[in-house]
Amino acid sequence: MGFEEMWAALLPIGRDPATGGYHRFAWTPPELQCRAWFLDEARRRDLDVEHDANGNMFAWWLPGDGSRDDAVLTGSHLDSVPGGGAFDGPLGVVSAFAAIDCLRERGAGLRRPIGVAVFAEEEGARFGIACLGSRLLTGAIAPARARALTDGDGHTFAEVLHNAGLDPDAIGPDEDLLGRIGCFVELHVEQGRALREPVGVASSIIPHGRWRFDFRGEGDHAGTTALPDRRDPMLPFAGMVLAAREAAERNGAVATVGKVRVVPGGVNAIPSSVTAWLDARAPEDEAVRRTVAEVDEAARVAARPHRVSVDLAEESYTEVVDFHRALRDRIAATLGGPPVLPTGAGHDAGVLSARVPAAMLFVRNPTGVSHAPAESAEPADRLAGVEALTAVLDDLACG
Ligand code: GLV
Ligand code: MN
Ligand code: MN
Repeated sequence: MGFEEMWAALLPIGRDPATGGYHRFAWTPPELQCRAWFLDEARRRDLDVEHDANGNMFAWWLPGDGSRDDAVLTGSHLDSVPGGGAFDGPLGVVSAFAAIDCLRERGAGLRRPIGVAVFAEEEGARFGIACLGSRLLTGAIAPARARALTDGDGHTFAEVLHNAGLDPDAIGPDEDLLGRIGCFVELHVEQGRALREPVGVASSIIPHGRWRFDFRGEGDHAGTTALPDRRDPMLPFAGMVLAAREAAERNGAVATVGKVRVVPGGVNAIPSSVTAWLDARAPEDEAVRRTVAEVDEAARVAARPHRVSVDLAEESYTEVVDFHRALRDRIAATLGGPPVLPTGAGHDAGVLSARVPAAMLFVRNPTGVSHAPAESAEPADRLAGVEALTAVLDDLACG
């Protein structure tokens, strides 16, 4: 199966025909279909499939002596944000299989194992914490906290794991698996407008995090409740959204409110509560912290006259990631000096980098759009990505 055939097989899965956006949330039917696709492709290539306790999957090509140590891991994720693009995640997995095919066609001899990873719940679209699978693997989140996370329907992560045939009590760091990974190289579609050549190499991931604001007032009738009698949480919520934009501008950050839950959500009812999630990122840790503190202060000031309470919870925070210098330089040399660029997007490679040397390849995105249906990579650039990954794996694992 060549790249385009693999790509075509994945394309319809979880795609909303009306918008063209993808809905592949962890362990929902479309994501399970993507997992089944991965297992088929692994079996087709006689790769050795490993499921870890955290819902991550690995397909290993082992050297002749069967050694499993010092592996070169590649791959990415198959889940999506709500209404996401086709490329964020799957491009790295499909390219990994295609690169293995190229190496085999060339008769490359393997010195080190090559693995294709699929990390679970990378987007955090279902349980709220991005890179949940790699965070659990590396010990970046406590298993007890992960087990208690709930999805939008109130199902816990523990329940969902159990229904998927996994033991929720077994989740957590896996030192044996981590000890076998010599390095991780994730290929990913570029998610901004900075890459003007077919392939680039990542230098860093900027600090980023997610915060939840709970505004609580009093539900009441939209027609009979006089304005002075209202405790309407929607008003300070609106103030908080505008404050986020202003705070981001002041601090050289970006801030986004992309998800809101209004209870009870009736056209003719004053809400009793509004929950809103703030995503904030900046090149400096300090700028992110200041942005969130300023938004919090503005929300409280806006809430007071309406007798609304405000609670702020940090759901996740990831400090700056500087990718492994020697690995990145070696990859850049192998590829003949491609552009080296930072990114504002989070990745499993960033989480893994706390424990193993990690690096990333980016494939040009002509629209510059991501987490939306217009996300794209031209066929010629996809092949350039496969060629680049093949050269990198050849250098690191073959010969
Ligand atoms: C993941 O893609 C993120 O940056 O939120
Ligand atoms: Mn993403
Ligand atoms: Mn991604």
